[in-house]
Amino acid sequence: MIVCSCHVISDKDIETALVEIMRQEPAPLPTPGVVWRHLSKRMRCCGCAPLAVETIYARLEKLERDGAISSEAGQSMRSQLIRIQSRNGGLRRSRMDFKLPEADAAE
Ligand code: FES
Repeated sequence: MIVCSCHVISDKDIETALVEIMRQEPAPLPTPGVVWRHLSKRMRCCGCAPLAVETIYARLEKLERDGAISSEAGQSMRSQLIRIQSRNGGLRRSRMDFKLPEADAAE
């Protein structure tokens, strides 16, 4: 799935970047800006930002389930992403209302 049409960044690109970012010591909070910089890109129109946050959140959950990152690190990062998202105008829908993009096991 393409998340950013300006740079043709897919959810797989984001997941790969997240694994590398989370291996850094200390790992930075993987905001869309951090992930895009890791991919040597800069946000242009920022139209993808809400989907980018949802994708990062969902991929952190998947990486945590797969054991690629610790549950403490995943939980901490996801909590911080929710706080930032709430501070920046909040989620368009409640966390419980929207369906996060599933990290497809068949990918
Ligand atoms: S759609 Fe991602 S920066 Fe424009």
